[in-house]
Amino acid sequence: MSSVPTDLFPHPIVQAPMAGGVAVPQLAAAVSEAGGLGFLAAGYKTADGMYQEIKQLRGLTAQPFGVNLFLPQPETADPAAVGVYAHQLAGEASWYETELGDPDSGRDDGYDAKLAVLLDNPVPVVSFHFGVPACEVLDSLRRVGTYTLVTATTAEEARAVERAGADAVIAQGVEAGGHQGAHRDVPEADGSGVGLLSLVAQVRESVGIPVVAAGGIMRGGQIAAVLAAGAAAAQLGTAFVAAHESGAHALHKQALTSPLYVRTELTRAFSGRPARALVNRFLREHGPYAPAAYPDVHHLTAPLRKAAAKAGDAQGMALWAGQGHRMARELPAGQLVEVLASELAAARAALSAGDAR
Ligand SMILES: Cc1cc2nc3c(=O)[nH]c(=O)nc-3n(C[C@H](O)[C@H](O)[C@H](O)COP(=O)(O)O)c2cc1C
Repeated sequence: MSSVPTDLFPHPIVQAPMAGGVAVPQLAAAVSEAGGLGFLAAGYKTADGMYQEIKQLRGLTAQPFGVNLFLPQPETADPAAVGVYAHQLAGEASWYETELGDPDSGRDDGYDAKLAVLLDNPVPVVSFHFGVPACEVLDSLRRVGTYTLVTATTAEEARAVERAGADAVIAQGVEAGGHQGAHRDVPEADGSGVGLLSLVAQVRESVGIPVVAAGGIMRGGQIAAVLAAGAAAAQLGTAFVAAHESGAHALHKQALTSPLYVRTELTRAFSGRPARALVNRFLREHGPYAPAAYPDVHHLTAPLRKAAAKAGDAQGMALWAGQGHRMARELPAGQLVEVLASELAAARAALSAGDAR
């Protein structure tokens, strides 16, 4: 197995791209400067918004970084269900004194325009979420010198990633915060997500390309564990939500370790696709009947989430978090990378001392 190019980033630590204003250029720059791989999240942005962030990041660091894209989504199977959900959310809209969003606000996330920008202005790394890009797309990125990664949540999806020609696969366990990057949203598969250690081992035996492990990783010892299981690097999201430079709302950062939020759940309540968040009032009330309709539901609830954040009401916000959220540390991102790297070194030393006994 080839490995992830360690000349790109000396520590095997990737800061997850986090759409919604979390993975801002300051965060990515701090991570890359510390020897991890910082990432920008192009999801929900315009192509120009993405380009401006890349320019800003290039002004902050000369180190390599990545940009993450969302794949266009197929038509929603049952548009009527979105109408019913809108009806069920009417009380939320009047409570937050706002309107619901237009569920038909687009389903391709400006994919082609963003790709055009990334081909004209190549970046070191591009990753993809919610599907597999066409072979030609991965090929054209390779031709401009970009290293490509694609998320998979099963061994079967990882094989599809390899067949398409990606350089590496991100194995995303069910513990992961935010959206599961399953290639298709299959409601029948709800509740069947694979845990990270099991997934890394399965993916490792299914493909020859390097594997980046994501989901619930908060400590260097866990990074050592996924490396020992065959991963080439670890991708951490929730751990970096809490970092000083993260653009997450202050209430989101506080909620990660607050005794008010003891559990996470995969829910469609906020976006219509399974995503892991801290269990709050909105998730509890609307999760049970939210339809499988992404990104329709994302567009529908956007004004509600915005109004809740503005009102300082964390019970109405999407508090994306992985299962390890209580172990979050509020540190400058560069320091967090250093702490993770030294925990990793200690765990590896302990493992090899164990080997020697
Ligand atoms: C706030 C938040 C936003 C996220 N947004 C994205 C995204 O835009 N693109 C993506 O590929 N993954 C996204 N993810 C998922 C991460 O890539 C990664 O799989 C996950 O954070 C790993 O689990 P952890 O949060 O427990 O570390 C997001 C995760 C979080 C917590």
